[in-house]
Amino acid sequence: MGLTSSARTGSSSTPATSTDSSRFSTPTPSRQPSPPPQVPQVSEPSMVDESRGNAALDRSFLDANVDELLRQMTTDEKISLLSGKNWWETATIPRLNVPSVKVTDGPNGARGSSFFKMTKASAIPSATCLASSFSTDLITEAGTLLAEEARARGAVCLLAPTINIQRSPLGGRAFESFSEDPTLSGRLAAAYIKGLQGAGVSACIKHFVCNDQEHERNGEDSVIGERALREIYLRPFQIAQREAGPWAMMTAYNKVNGTHVSESKALIWDLLRTEWGYDGLVMSDWYGTYSVSESVQAGLSLEMPGPTIWRQQRMLNHLIMSHKLAVRDIDGRAREVLSWAQKLARLNPELVYAVPTPERTRDSAEDHASDAKLLRRLAGEGVVLLKNDGALPIREGRVAVIGPNAKTRVISGGGSATLRPLWSVNAWEGMVENKPAAVELSYSLGLQGAKFLPMLDECFTTLDGRPGFDLLHYAIDANGEVAHEPAVTDTHDVSDMFLADFRHPRLGAHYVTEVQARFTSPITGRYEFGLTVTGQGWLYVDEQLVIDNASKQTMGGKFFGNGTIEEKGTVPVEKGKSYTLRVVHDSRRPGKAAVAGTPFIVKGIRIGAFPLVDARQAIEDAVATARAADSVVLVVGLNADYESEGFDRHTLALPLASDELIARVADANPNTVVVVQAGSAVSMPWADKVAGIVQCWYGGNEAGNGIADVVYGLRNPSGRLPLSFPKRECDIAAALNFKSARTKVHYAEGIWIGYRHHNARGIAPLFPFGRGLSYTSFKYSHLGISVDKGTEWTATARVTVTNTGKVTGDHSVHFYTAPPAESPTGLRHPEVALQAFTKVYGLAPGKSATVEVKLDKYAISHWDEYDGTWKVEVGEWALKIGEDAQTMVVEVPFTIDSEMAWTKFV
Ligand code: BGC
Repeated sequence: MGLTSSARTGSSSTPATSTDSSRFSTPTPSRQPSPPPQVPQVSEPSMVDESRGNAALDRSFLDANVDELLRQMTTDEKISLLSGKNWWETATIPRLNVPSVKVTDGPNGARGSSFFKMTKASAIPSATCLASSFSTDLITEAGTLLAEEARARGAVCLLAPTINIQRSPLGGRAFESFSEDPTLSGRLAAAYIKGLQGAGVSACIKHFVCNDQEHERNGEDSVIGERALREIYLRPFQIAQREAGPWAMMTAYNKVNGTHVSESKALIWDLLRTEWGYDGLVMSDWYGTYSVSESVQAGLSLEMPGPTIWRQQRMLNHLIMSHKLAVRDIDGRAREVLSWAQKLARLNPELVYAVPTPERTRDSAEDHASDAKLLRRLAGEGVVLLKNDGALPIREGRVAVIGPNAKTRVISGGGSATLRPLWSVNAWEGMVENKPAAVELSYSLGLQGAKFLPMLDECFTTLDGRPGFDLLHYAIDANGEVAHEPAVTDTHDVSDMFLADFRHPRLGAHYVTEVQARFTSPITGRYEFGLTVTGQGWLYVDEQLVIDNASKQTMGGKFFGNGTIEEKGTVPVEKGKSYTLRVVHDSRRPGKAAVAGTPFIVKGIRIGAFPLVDARQAIEDAVATARAADSVVLVVGLNADYESEGFDRHTLALPLASDELIARVADANPNTVVVVQAGSAVSMPWADKVAGIVQCWYGGNEAGNGIADVVYGLRNPSGRLPLSFPKRECDIAAALNFKSARTKVHYAEGIWIGYRHHNARGIAPLFPFGRGLSYTSFKYSHLGISVDKGTEWTATARVTVTNTGKVTGDHSVHFYTAPPAESPTGLRHPEVALQAFTKVYGLAPGKSATVEVKLDKYAISHWDEYDGTWKVEVGEWALKIGEDAQTMVVEVPFTIDSEMAWTKFV
């Protein structure tokens, strides 16, 4: 047995250390690994306690009076409610028939309990793609679909939407958040929540507040002025609360102005609960609780995940005894948990009281058909046409599809947004599937542009020929000795294995995993392998050591910041010949390597493989393919390895030689259209050289069909940018203060982010907020505003939109307000700020439609730090319609003649 014999060669009783790779010394090439021995198979992932037993409870909880229930509870029972019982579930109190309820991630689908054995799911596009649609109705439909998805995973709460602000497009989770604009973020959040909660599943909006970067996210202190905090960063949460009333909120990991949010009385108790009147559940981000009495008193209902670190019964009883905490504090938090769980149990009794069943994929023919239809629309409606010199749509001719992203499955960004799609359509498949008869397609790779080599695919099987590969897990004893026989075996089919939630009673916190596979080469030449690990790893082909990712390691961002970069090695191969692949992974980290990842033990192994690409030749081949075509669709971009929770991007640039590839192809063929798959902004030094640019974000399962629909003109594009695309990193408002420096992130740019910054400083973006072309054109007329000065200022705005082009189109209309040129208070305000938007569908050529939106007092307000209130500037205002945030096309004046001020947000 491979590992056993190599383990025997190692030093015997000393615990293994980073340098102890001799225990895995290369076995003799002649020896073939034997088939896995008969040992217990891995069952379901063990993150969720399968014995939760809600099914055994009577349903009295559904009709219970929560205060009466509290009176019947012991203090220990109340305390048990204040933290999760495991990673995804709240506590059960069998004596009083209180059931647990389950939550799941969010935000572009419902992943289910396991990162390791993910249940296949429907993945909607990234939040930036959703936001580009500027359609609240569409987002509500997406929310309704996600409620069904959450339920299929056994969950009654989706940890979503993410509504942090894109302070910088380089933020690791920028793809996961809607926008740089608070009104757009808040309105879309409200639409998403209405969809979810309307279908009986709790939203949990996150991360409250100022978790706007990944660098040192648990410890950084977001130092921010009250005005920026209120007007920009809190505003989406405020709008969501005002318009949709989310039932749960998740606190951010970070501090704001010196205090961690999960224990901030100022933010949770004074602002959220008292000023905004929020009465739902407040849960911490995972391992984002950092105190006992402070967090309880601040109003943090639930510490997640469980079992608790902080809210131990002994500890809380001690604090009650010493009067550091009052029983009423415990009652308050327990009441919040019980009320929330009761609401969800009442809405979903059949699910909450079901005998625990494995999570399910919604894969019936009807579900599949209706999901695919909505997902395709979501993917296509989010596509933003940034430039079109007449190259699009393509309806005929020889079309070369080129680029590193054309044939890869780019679904979403990484981190907790990760999903395993039930199906997926890449750009190439979309282009082939939807091809008009007069189009002839050719393909060239152009660039192997990924941060990691593609995962193992159909070239790999288990040693006995089944799909996937074998995993053998070996226990490590107290002396650091690795067992000779595996404790547990498994077959797995995804070579990106995040073992965060894999536990087995026969394995301790650390263990050794051996991966075995048979590889049949599709080529003659050199094959490249890649290995990324937490801990240490070695990769062998036919028992020859190809990669040693142990004796020398470089840490990277993979596995929430706990993984190495990908180490690579190549081997000569012959087409059709079979080879054995063996990877040994020791989850123990080599000696000193400390990493700034998540605070729990994370284990992961990623194996990649691809024919070795000669980078120069790949570009030359692409240029030749481009030259032989009438037009080119060049699919480039990022993926979950470049954009993820756990780290921020360092550059706006596309990876590796992408820019060079685009420039060379554009030189070879003037009809080059660049399709960018990225969750946020990238730089485009070639923008002037190409005939078309299409930003399609991360499109979920149906990404490729969404792209093809726009490229072939099956859909007239209507997406518009929800964030500014800067030309250079130094043009980003937060450029000088983005990383945590000596534990602090200074939001020195204040309210001047995104288009507010570009407009005020005259720094031209590459493409402005709101930019988005169509295959037709639109004109606005009859803009009007009628103000109602009743008890509270409100207004109705109207405008007529006319399709002045030749094809039917959809169009979102963006209303901005502009404050008086002279501000009586002396405060500086943004030139224009988005206040409302609405969308017209199916407007035929020559036809007009009149749209109407409501404005409230926040449309004309700012936060006055001196008085600590919302205020309104008196004077001549204007309402404007923006083609984008830089270009206002029609406007109408209105007057504010008396001062207004308020604090309570209702
Ligand atoms: C993320 C949350 C997520 C949670 C549970 C955290 O790392 O910040 O957004 O919901 O994990 O997966």
